Amino acid sequence: MPPLPPPAVQTSGLTRHYGSLAALSQLDLTVQKGDLFGFIGSNGAGKTTTLRILATFLLPSAGSARVLGYDIVEQADNVRRLIGYMPDFFGVYRDMEVTEYLDFFGACYKIPTAQRERTVQDVIELVGLSEKKGALIGALSRGMQQRLGLARVLVHDPQLLLLDEPASGLDPRARIEVMAILQELQRLGKTIIISSHILSELQNLCNRVAIIEKGKMIYTGPVQGVRDQFEAGRVFWVKVADAHERAMDLLRARPEIAGAEWKDGRIRAVLRDREADPGCVAETLVRGGLKLVGLEEEELGLEEVFLRVTRGETQ
Ligand SMILES: Nc1ncnc2c1ncn2[C@@H]1O[C@H](COP(=O)(O)OP(=O)(O)O)[C@@H](O)[C@H]1O
Ligand SMILES: [Mg+2]
Repeated sequence: MPPLPPPAVQTSGLTRHYGSLAALSQLDLTVQKGDLFGFIGSNGAGKTTTLRILATFLLPSAGSARVLGYDIVEQADNVRRLIGYMPDFFGVYRDMEVTEYLDFFGACYKIPTAQRERTVQDVIELVGLSEKKGALIGALSRGMQQRLGLARVLVHDPQLLLLDEPASGLDPRARIEVMAILQELQRLGKTIIISSHILSELQNLCNRVAIIEKGKMIYTGPVQGVRDQFEAGRVFWVKVADAHERAMDLLRARPEIAGAEWKDGRIRAVLRDREADPGCVAETLVRGGLKLVGLEEEELGLEEVFLRVTRGETQ
């Protein structure tokens, strides 16, 4: 059998210290070719540090990383040719026109003049800036500037895009437009890593995600798995006609129920784990001779799960 092609990104024990602060600890991250990969963590989690290391702008303190098979330290030049890195803040040349700016970056990448014009037109079209070709960059909206940032990292036709919070600070519509461009790029065969501090922003976009917190990986896998891994027992809101105290005592006595408390005029009952039979809530109360007048399951959004995870509130 031929050897498997290398993953787009593979890190092993990747660690970075700033003085005594461990911004990144022993990170093992794998991103496959063709992934639209979400890299998620709250502010200060270590996302930018990781992306800067992968982009060869920052050296790791320990551990290693390969991008499309190339070592980010030993073979940094090869890595640079294959990636397009869009930092969280990039300076824009306000007095340059869109086309001029992209042509300038094309020249930096030594794309021959004859080919450059075509390439620049292609990327402008791809990110939907055709109508703004001749506009001064300083006059573009924030959303348009983000698109220009994307166009810029596409000029040298990289295989892997490292995008550091490209949707932050955009209004919802501009955000959706950026996401649509990313989906198109994935269809064109690019591998994309996009970071965000908002899990729900990426849940419909990415096929896989990694969640980091304080420099450590706490989850990697499909988006849906986040809920399965971190959501503790299901929560039910219960209303009984009277005898609330007795109802709570009966519920607490059941092994499947982790707790029952009085909240907002109702009883909040939490099952011990995902496997516990939710029927036990109603059964306990009815058997105890209580009059059940309301029973409703709490729907926990993915974002709420994420916030609990990153606040360390799980289990
Ligand atoms: N140049 C630096 N010097 C010192 N500390 C830094 C530096 N850059 C980042 N940090 C710290 O490292 C941690 C991770 O930061 P960062 O990678 O920027 O996280 P994120 O991008 O997820 O918000 C934070 O605690 C941050 O304050
Ligand atoms: Mg950051």
